[in-house]
Amino acid sequence: MEVLIVPTPDDVADLAASVVVDALPTSRPPVLGLATGSSPLGLYRRLGEAAAAGHLRVQDASGVALDEYVGLAGGHPESYRTVLEREVCDVVGLDRARLFVPDGTGADLEALIAAARRHEERIVALGGVDVQILGIGANGHLGFNEPGSALSSRTRVKRLSDRTRADNARFFASPEDVPTHCITQGLGTILSARSLVLVATGAAKATAVAAALEGPLTASCPASVLQWHADAVVVLDEDAAAMLANRAYYDASAAGLRLPG
Ligand code: GLP
Repeated sequence: MEVLIVPTPDDVADLAASVVVDALPTSRPPVLGLATGSSPLGLYRRLGEAAAAGHLRVQDASGVALDEYVGLAGGHPESYRTVLEREVCDVVGLDRARLFVPDGTGADLEALIAAARRHEERIVALGGVDVQILGIGANGHLGFNEPGSALSSRTRVKRLSDRTRADNARFFASPEDVPTHCITQGLGTILSARSLVLVATGAAKATAVAAALEGPLTASCPASVLQWHADAVVVLDEDAAAMLANRAYYDASAAGLRLPG
């Protein structure tokens, strides 16, 4: 795991975008794993600039969503399909026809379970995710994998925790409007991506970041699965990095593998 710490959220966006661009293939259509939330918004803007400058192969790229709410009508402004169309397709230039989001509109559990299975099948059909962009919940969740999620889980229907519903209430007219369930890629699905890039900014994420990077690998902190992935990069601002114990080592490592002498 590589931990890169920079002064400000703008610096996080700049550095994470260059990590993503470098990790994406140029000789075939890239497959980008997309997170919602406020954390990656600056990164998406930088990717849009990279695409405009010809540094990102976006014309035939695909985007695969991490998760979706259950029960929001198609076109609801807070459905993750709508959010990703607005924040990624329109900003980066990704074709909406190649944005794949689990369908959370199914009328019953059976339909939702089928939608979760189709999302897994879609990822396989695309040849897997090249770079999965991730944020982290204040409770350590990844996608909508809440504490207690199986480390090898695949895309499935899950209940949202009270903490996550409260955190996300700011996007809805009232807290009761926040859906109770979701379809989310599992932690095993996320680990199947060729590389992971997690971004976090702000003091509210410092505890979760420290637990994920330096605590035990445990379902109690879903984001700790990053420790298991062979190609995971974490880009943090100073505030999000504030509770890391191994900071000096991360900074030294970030300087590269130059040998003395
Ligand atoms: C949501 C998403 C997560 C995201 C998290 C953090 O719950 N499902 O994928 O990482 O929010 O959001 P933010 O970046 O706004 O703090």
